[in-house]
Amino acid sequence: MKELQKYIRDIADFPKPGIIYKDITPLLQNPGATERTTLALLDFLRDSSIDKVVGIESRGFFFATLLAQRLGAGFVPVRKPGKLPFETHRESYSLEYGEDVLEVHVDAIQKGEKVLIHDDVLATGGTAAAACKLVEKMGGEIIQCNFLMDLAFLNGKEKLKGYEVTSLFTF
Ligand code: PRP
Ligand code: MG
Repeated sequence: MKELQKYIRDIADFPKPGIIYKDITPLLQNPGATERTTLALLDFLRDSSIDKVVGIESRGFFFATLLAQRLGAGFVPVRKPGKLPFETHRESYSLEYGEDVLEVHVDAIQKGEKVLIHDDVLATGGTAAAACKLVEKMGGEIIQCNFLMDLAFLNGKEKLKGYEVTSLFTF
């Protein structure tokens, strides 16, 4: 895992002063590292009979599609408001200042389907918790929430209590 971590670049003061942005583009540029990362994420999955992998816009899309392919599952985008063209379910969640909304197509997940939720970063957990609510609104069963990184000092896991949460790297 240490070997893969070197492909994640710290960018200080982006997008705002005081924030250290974890840039995964060096990882994505390297096909071997991308492959090893995908396999490592799959390794954490105890139940591989997944029907749908949910990727959260935008940085969650990269590995969610790769995971879906490997699992023989469908890929479902959860997007920021106004981006999805068909009828949607909406869920709002709070940010440090203000709130935001996530949407998913109403026909993306069928009742009883087994779902893996993926995003690049678990920070405060608000985004992933909103994605979980959307999946459960449609009757999906969340098998696991997996992340490349957990910014553990922000306690995101607290917001995902009751779900199995895994991440490759913890900062
Ligand atoms: C970042 C990150 C996660 C989310 C985590 O996304 O990619 O999706 O924040 O934050 P939280 O746990 O505090 O909710 P961002 O909203 O910056 O958008 P992006 O993925 O489109 O860059
Ligand atoms: Mg994101």
